[in-house]
Amino acid sequence: NIPSLSDVYKKHFRIGAAVNPMTLHDQEAFILKHFNSLTAENVMKFERLQPEEGHFTFTHADELIAIAQQNNKQVRGHTLVWHNQTPDWVFQQSNGEEADRQLLLERMKQHIFTVMERYKGKIGSWDVVNEAVSDSGTDLLRESKWRSIIGDDFIDKAFEYAHMADPDARLFYNDYNESHPEKREKIYSVAKGLVERGIPIHGIGLQAHWNLSEPSLDHIKQAIERYASLGLKLHITEMDVSAFSFEDKRADLTAPTEEMTDKLTERYRSFFDLMTEYAAVIDSVTFWGVADNYTWLDDFPVKGRKNWPLLFDEHLQPKPSFWEVVDVA
Ligand code: XIL
Repeated sequence: NIPSLSDVYKKHFRIGAAVNPMTLHDQEAFILKHFNSLTAENVMKFERLQPEEGHFTFTHADELIAIAQQNNKQVRGHTLVWHNQTPDWVFQQSNGEEADRQLLLERMKQHIFTVMERYKGKIGSWDVVNEAVSDSGTDLLRESKWRSIIGDDFIDKAFEYAHMADPDARLFYNDYNESHPEKREKIYSVAKGLVERGIPIHGIGLQAHWNLSEPSLDHIKQAIERYASLGLKLHITEMDVSAFSFEDKRADLTAPTEEMTDKLTERYRSFFDLMTEYAAVIDSVTFWGVADNYTWLDDFPVKGRKNWPLLFDEHLQPKPSFWEVVDVA
């Protein structure tokens, strides 16, 4: 008798999954059983929604929304402004030269308004800006076309437009390596700046692409407390725990070793232990995938390496980590 994960966690936070047209089609009942929040793995990204200027393609996104509506599921919108998966035309004029600040702001606003107005009342939270903070060096923000053309205030503008487009939506800044102390401080100071300038931001998304060796529980705890000190809500937005440690680049395994499974189980248990401790500030925990039969980590960061980062195995059966996570609730 396998309990529904989201039922088990109802008293703490929502449990979500990133889905795509394939998993939604093949595993719909399974997804609906275990998860009460859905995120589009790709189909709500800029390149998918507006591949050409003014030409919007909403079919797959609409399908996800319809399933969510019919089954009373929350949806997290992912994502509006990002340096990846955004078409080149966005940053160019028709003559091929680079767009200027005014044109790019106009396009940003158009995109945000068109998408958010369509899904008003159906998408409760949006990752408005994704991964804008730099991983290394002293720069706060990473180099990107959004930043170089508009300036550092592209983040402010994105949140302002998003709030105008749907005043009821909860607006998130989302990033990875969120628990790494140096990057944590950068994310913190960017979010703090937004709050201090009165920019409408309601939460921080911690992607939580973790592995067997990193980050430490202490670092996660410190990140949660630091972000929460801004009075913002936290969503765990893209959780997966690679079955490998950070240093382990082996690409020839066809199944996880016993040692890997044991370690993964222990890691999942302590992560959920910690997150439930902070359930007052964490509203939802979303996995970046459904089961080990398909995960983006099969190709990242080691190309072609099979990974087993989720709570369900390749046959959708609960792994030992599932039972530990259930037990922690
Ligand atoms: C990933 C998807 O899972 C892949 O299918 C796609 O090829 C690349 O993007 N951070 C994010 C997500 O914010 O959008 C990324 O999703 C994973 C890392």
